[in-house]
Amino acid sequence: MSTTRVSHTRPPERPPLRTVADLLQDGTRRLSKARLHYGHGTDNPGDDAAALVFHVLGLEGELDAATLAWQPGLRAQCQIQALIARRIRERIPVVYLTQRIWFAGLPMYIDQRALIPRSPIAELIEAGFAPWIDPDKVTRVLDVGTGSGCIAIACALAFPQARVDAVDISEQALAVAHINRRAYALGRRLRLLQSDYFSALAPARYDIIVSNPPYVGTAEFGRLPPEYAHEPAGALWSGHDGMDAVQVLLREARRFLSPQGILVVEVGNTETTVRRRYRHWPFVWLEFQRGGGGVFVLTAADLNRFAKDL
Ligand SMILES: C[S@@+](CC[C@H](N)C(=O)[O-])C[C@H]1O[C@@H](n2cnc3c(N)ncnc32)[C@H](O)[C@@H]1O
Repeated sequence: MSTTRVSHTRPPERPPLRTVADLLQDGTRRLSKARLHYGHGTDNPGDDAAALVFHVLGLEGELDAATLAWQPGLRAQCQIQALIARRIRERIPVVYLTQRIWFAGLPMYIDQRALIPRSPIAELIEAGFAPWIDPDKVTRVLDVGTGSGCIAIACALAFPQARVDAVDISEQALAVAHINRRAYALGRRLRLLQSDYFSALAPARYDIIVSNPPYVGTAEFGRLPPEYAHEPAGALWSGHDGMDAVQVLLREARRFLSPQGILVVEVGNTETTVRRRYRHWPFVWLEFQRGGGGVFVLTAADLNRFAKDL
């Protein structure tokens, strides 16, 4: 005799779908508890949670009440939880998970082949490098160590009449810069070149040479939070005292600057070493409204005077 067994236990219930407001709140709580490091395009758990929720759901701007009360489908909810888990477990900066960042008011593509754009130089570009240069006279710009191309692209858009050259030693980083250049249709005005600093450049005179080179020394590099391990080491580390790149720029840039030109370089925390080593140089250290520092300006005239003995 055959028997049919009937289960009286109910199938497990699906967890209730959360609203967007809940997802934001819950994400913020999980990220806060994990005590992560910020500073790669976002600076707090709430912004990280929002970036991931917005990314998966394709949201933009301010959220209205209806969107906050919306319950996205299960697949989207799982995607959000999985990204939050990766942010916590693998310590990946959120911008590498969303592959999108804003720089100087411009959206940029980014992935782990290039440093996450965050230079305060963005603010200077937005101001057209005022008061350092007459914007109408800028015809050539050089970006040394272009990475994702963020500085070069922002310069090309700030100076529509200028030609911009951008160099990087890393083929991988240049691949990211190519993606961004294509997105801004700058193929004719922005030249991307693989080069060890100035070595692959034909003789030329630039009105602006701008650089956010690597400037982290060995000791500091060893102490960086895990998030930095996702960025290319060659974009951060620059010799035992972090000075390798800046020394090349100070020595070589004058051969490529026009007589009225300027050199703008970010050196971050290495500012102290730069000030100490080049005590008599007339660096002007810039202040930024949105924070950040360690950026100096030198005029071609000053560079010619002081760099000739290097
Ligand atoms: C701090 S990252 C800056 C990237 C980008 N300019 C930005 O602000 O986001 C420094 C860049 O310099 C490049 N770099 C390192 N050594 C170089 C060299 N010898 N010549 C040219 N570029 C170099 C790295 O590959 C990296 O892309």
